[in-house]
Order: sequence, then C-alpha cells, then structure tokens
Amino acid sequence: MCGIVGYVGSRDAAPILLNGLRRLEYRGYDSAGIAVFDGQRIQIRRAVGKLQGLIDQVAREPVHGHIGIGHTRWATHGEPSVRNAHPHLSQNGQVVVVHNGIVENFLALKDELQAEGFTFRSDTDTEVIVHLIERYLEGHGMGIVEATRRALKHLRGSNAIVVLAATEPDKLVTARLGNAGGITLGFGQDEMFVASDLPAILEHTRQVAFLEPGQMAVVTREGAQVLSLDGEPIPYEITTVPWDPVAAEKGEYRHFMLKEIHEQVRGLTDTIAGRIEPSAARVRFLHLEATPEFARRIPKIFITACGTAYHSGLVGKFYFERLARIPTEVVIASEFRYMDPIVPEGAVVLAISQSGETADTLAAMEEGRRKGATLWAIVNVIGSQAMRMADGYISMQVGPEISVASTKAYTATLADLYMLALYLAELRGTLSEAQRRQLIQDLLTLPDLVGETLQREDQYAAIARRFVRAQNMFYLGRGINMPTAYEGALKLKEIAYVHAEGYPAGEMKHGPIALLDENFPVLALAPRDPWYEKMISQVEQSRARGAPTLAVATDGDDRAASLADAVLWVPETPWLLSPVTSVIPLQLFAYHIATERGLDVDQPRNLAKSVTVE
Ligand code: M6R
Repeated sequence: MCGIVGYVGSRDAAPILLNGLRRLEYRGYDSAGIAVFDGQRIQIRRAVGKLQGLIDQVAREPVHGHIGIGHTRWATHGEPSVRNAHPHLSQNGQVVVVHNGIVENFLALKDELQAEGFTFRSDTDTEVIVHLIERYLEGHGMGIVEATRRALKHLRGSNAIVVLAATEPDKLVTARLGNAGGITLGFGQDEMFVASDLPAILEHTRQVAFLEPGQMAVVTREGAQVLSLDGEPIPYEITTVPWDPVAAEKGEYRHFMLKEIHEQVRGLTDTIAGRIEPSAARVRFLHLEATPEFARRIPKIFITACGTAYHSGLVGKFYFERLARIPTEVVIASEFRYMDPIVPEGAVVLAISQSGETADTLAAMEEGRRKGATLWAIVNVIGSQAMRMADGYISMQVGPEISVASTKAYTATLADLYMLALYLAELRGTLSEAQRRQLIQDLLTLPDLVGETLQREDQYAAIARRFVRAQNMFYLGRGINMPTAYEGALKLKEIAYVHAEGYPAGEMKHGPIALLDENFPVLALAPRDPWYEKMISQVEQSRARGAPTLAVATDGDDRAASLADAVLWVPETPWLLSPVTSVIPLQLFAYHIATERGLDVDQPRNLAKSVTVE
C-alpha cells in the first residue's frame, strides 16, 4: 500500500524523488522519507504525516546526490512515527531499503538477527530486510546484488523493495516477491527510474517495463538487468504507456476527486469508442476474445473484487444474467479463496480492479486459476498484475485515478460490463440483432446524460449543505440500483466519515427501520427503473417514521418531488444504465459534505488507494 520511488542519473535526485512521492501520496500518508547518496555517504530525511512535512525538512536540511530512493508509508507494522518511517538504514550505515508489503516471518527473522547481534531501531518488519542484506554484505563479502538476492530468499509473504548501497552507489537493486504492489522500471535518457506506480515517473518517461513476481532488477543510469531470484538473467519488454502525464495533475480543480468526477464524460466516451460497431450492432474488445463455442458453454461467471469495484460487479451480475443469460455470482475478493468455490468446467472468473494490484483480488484470481477457470479482468492501471495474470482483459479508458475514493473507474467499469454482456449475448445468441442495436444506441447516449447530470453539481452541493451535520444515513436501493446505494454510502463513509449504510430497501421492515427518527436521514434510489414504485413507497414509509428523506429521482417526477425533503434530480436514463447517472449525485453529495466539513477529500484518514496487503 506504500508508494516507492527510486532514481539514478545525472540530475539532483531529491527533487525528483519528492515529486515522485507527491504523485504517490495516495498510496499512504502516515510518513514519508528519502535517502540520497551524497558522494560520501547515505543521507536520510524522514518525517511523520503527510509529504509536506518531508518537503519542509528537506528544505531545511537539503541533500544532494544523483542516486536515491523514497517512500510514502501506509503503516502496517509499527505506528506512524519517524522511527518507523522508511527508508530504513542498516546497522553499518551502508545500505538503505524502502519496502512495500508484509514480511510474514519477520518475528522469527528478527529473533535470529538479534541473536546475531543486530540492534533494531524501529518496529517495522522492513528492518529485517536491511539487516539481512548487511549480514551477507559484511559477513560473506558479497556485492549488493548477491547480498540482496540472498536476503530475499529468507522472506515469506508478498514484498516489493528497492535497495541502495553506499558501497556501490551507481546502482539500485529492486525486487518483487508475490503480489504486494508492482515495481515499474522507467527508462530515461541516461537516467532510470523505479516506482511502485506509473504516475510517479510519467513526467520523465513513458518507456517502462514491469517486474513480475519473483523477479529482481539491477538498475543503473544506463538501463536495467532483470534477474530471477536464482540470479539468472531474464529478457523483458519495454512498453510505451499511453497515459498523458497531465492526466496525473489536479489542474484547475481543488481536489483530484472532483476532477475525476468531472472526467466521467470523457472516460465513458473513451471507454465506448473503439469497442462499438453500431452499424453491425457489435461490441469488440482488443484483449478479450471468446469463440461462440466457448461463450455458449460458460456455465457460470464469478465476479470478484473489493470495495467500489465489488459494487460495480453487483451491477454486472444484472447485465450478464439479463442480457447473456449466464448465471453469475459476485464474491467479495477477500472471501473467494476461503469459501472453497465450486468452479464448474468452463467457468469464468472475472476480476475487477482499478489498480490491478489489490492483494485480495489477485489472490481470488489465483484461486480461480487453481480451480481451472478462465481468468478475465477489467483493470485500469496498465501493466498491473491483474492485467498480466488474466487470460483476457478489458482496459478501462479513464487515465490515472489518483483520488483514494474511486469514481471514474466505477462508471467506466459499468460501461465495460454492459458491453461485455452484449458481446457474450451476441456469441450466445441470447439477444436479437434489433435488441442489441437498441441497447447499443442506449449506451451511446450515456456520455451526454452524464454530462447533463454533472451540470447539476450546484444543486447537489446545496442539498449536501443541508445534511452536513448528519451522523448517520441510510442509502436504500432495490434491483439494479441496490449497488448504487452501497456505492453512495461507501463514498460518504470514506471521505466524509459519516456512518452511512447501503441497504436493500425491502429489508428495512425486517429490522433496520427501528433506527429511524428525525436524526437519521434516508436516501432512496428512485430513478425510473422497474423498482421505482417500491422505492417511492419506501420514501413514504421512511417519512412516516419521521426520518428526513432524500431521493435520487428522474426529472419531472412529481411524486418524488412531493414526498422527499430533497431530490437529487437525474435525467431520464435507459434503466439498465441508470446506475451510471444515479451514482453521480451521490459522488458529488459525499464530496460536498466532506469539503463542507473541512476534510481532506483526496487523502481520507486510515486509507490508501491500492490495498496491496491482505
Ligand atoms: O484498485 P481496486 O479497484 O482493486 O480497489 C478496490 C477497493 O480498494 C477500492 O474500490 C476502494 O473501495 C475505494 N477506496 C473506494 O472508493
């Protein structure tokens, strides 16, 4: 979950590292640090809290050199503090390490190293790595590459590291063990970059290579050599990433989240473009193909994902079952491998992940693989592990999503799932050409409808101000908009710290309605979909119990207007696509409540963008 960056070249390393960390802060903001070799020795600067603390410290105590590493931390072992901040230095001061992941056997290794005389200065699991490297460097007279390779052999769990040694200050050594976060190598002109995520290096280069789990690399300013953990050279491919570096900037917006909400028109346009052939009523994907025989024999699709991506999967179930008539089960990724899933022959496991690095989602994919399923993925981050593990993937066309709260990746995924269902429907013959043509026409209207919805931001913000003091909220939905309720509630929880529960509306009378009173607002998802009548009656029931009521409703809906205390209006939308337009007022509602409360929307407390540990 932490962010890692490394640089070697002819420029001053510190500003490059700090800038890289600025773009990685969404990975964790408990502390940050850099280490630079200044020609004599390794200089470390570390600060607790957000990156600005480190930037201020480096301004007070500058550090200069042409090679260095940096880290922004999401604490797992040891509280957020300077002593636990990375980089961690070896006892002899010759080696420094940044790390992402968890060393599962660190207690045993710590005991072993302490018995050998190593003194620990932090509570982190990372420190065992740097002491192990020192052990091989000092005790066995090895070079840094071999010492790191030997040290890695002791580690259990998923880990990614970058190592710098004062004894060989022309190189960085990096490695990836398991799925805990990727390592990207960036190729510049006589300079090289290492990073956990692309945004950290995009402004310098778009020529990149990705380490696979179980690989390490020796990085000098001339390039990189990739090795297996047995030290064997491995050929690798350099690819050009299509992302525009400007996409990773906030621009005129106050927060990345707001920018990304407004990028949804563009995201949906790019998602649909190139995949639809309206004249032929066909959908095609570049990296995901199936034969009619394969598609007809799919007995079941498992969709597996976490958080917002999981909510999109719940909508996907509707699409696959209604349009392609494929039984679909949506499973929270952290549960998938523990439920011993019954995976019939020919089944597909479809993973959804913006980052493509979520540890639980990757583990669910592995479980699917073990059980013989075909693996498909919908992912945003290019070169991510999920993308590379999958037999076929759909690449979201939304550019980097920086805000911890996912928005544009959600709506793009809904469009991807809709198109995938249409694709399978064609292969399986479950929809006529006329039906597919109509559904495609509906999809083509979506970017404009989303644009129209976004223009109502001021109305949504005004309603948000009225509910800014709410401590609790129910978000109720039914049918295809039940996941919209879950997603809206998650947004409010994670950025505004309001206890919000997404709940199936029909379940209220089986218990939760007892909670309602004048301090417990109820937001009902009531766009014009097949569950509209039920949702309107839900508004009535909530009102009858004295709860303030809000509704997401379609323009011109007089009943919603007369019943609810506040209406978040959305334009008339084909009902299968109503989860896309209906979620937008909820994203903006949460955003404006959070900003009214003075909260840090892009970096909510305790969270990190990519959850690369279990
Ligand atoms: O990168 P992923 O899509 O796999 O991430 C999954 C969740 O961690 C993510 O959606 C999380 O719930 C977001 N913070 C929600 O806004």
